[in-house]
Amino acid sequence: KKKWLTSLVLTVGVGLLVSACGTGGNQASSGSGTAGGGTAEKVYVVGTDAAYPPFQMLEADNKITGHDIDVLNAIAEAGGFKVEWKNTGWDPLFDGLDRGTVDIGISSITITEERKKKYDFSEPYFEANQLILVAEDSPVNKLDDLKGKKIGVQGATTGGEVVKKAFGDTYQGLKEYDDMPSAVDDFFNGRVDAVVGDNGVIQYYVKKIKDKKFKLIKDDSFEKEYYGIMVKKGNTEILNKINDGLKKIKENGKLQEIYNQYFNKE
Ligand code: ARG
Repeated sequence: KKKWLTSLVLTVGVGLLVSACGTGGNQASSGSGTAGGGTAEKVYVVGTDAAYPPFQMLEADNKITGHDIDVLNAIAEAGGFKVEWKNTGWDPLFDGLDRGTVDIGISSITITEERKKKYDFSEPYFEANQLILVAEDSPVNKLDDLKGKKIGVQGATTGGEVVKKAFGDTYQGLKEYDDMPSAVDDFFNGRVDAVVGDNGVIQYYVKKIKDKKFKLIKDDSFEKEYYGIMVKKGNTEILNKINDGLKKIKENGKLQEIYNQYFNKE
């Protein structure tokens, strides 16, 4: 009971101190346990699956790079907050947000109704769509032509969703991989007939392999997708900072500049 009283006194005391020092307004953040003069700044942990080029990549020295990394770093700078990067992988990124070991997720994550039930998203920062990757001489010209064929996707992505929507949740030919490079590897080795994934990534891989030609198909059923930055539901404190920074880099041309750097080279 004594402990409780002490902490109450401390909390109230610090609270009074903070409001006394503040220049009015409510910018004094009520951060978790960083009592003091406001110098101990919170560093937000950003999780990503750094195996989705050119959006998220892991360099030889374990440095995480890519379009989304540049975008979030620019947002943090413009929004006035500090971040630290963590290569979590795809499924563990969602778990990390659930458990609070990750504060922010950026990983070419499409804003979907299903995900919005559990997470909050920033305004969109990128427009995308699914693409089907097949061999150049493949008879496949639309999604429906893939029926009966082996299709590789990254598990728990919108690529898997479009296939399930077309052929059913238990479609035998669907192979779900933990990460995109594994799906693409199996395609190049002939273990699956096609890969379905985000356009930017599929195009990246196709460009890299110069000695072979491929066919990329956008099915009529593929809808526009928008990437958003994800936080745990209700975490409005950080979401507001993210949206504020994002607005700024949309307005000052920084977002476009980053886009050009990765997608408009030639
Ligand atoms: N945009 C797709 C989705 O949200 C795929 C994202 C996969 N991202 C990644 N880093 N592997 O489902």
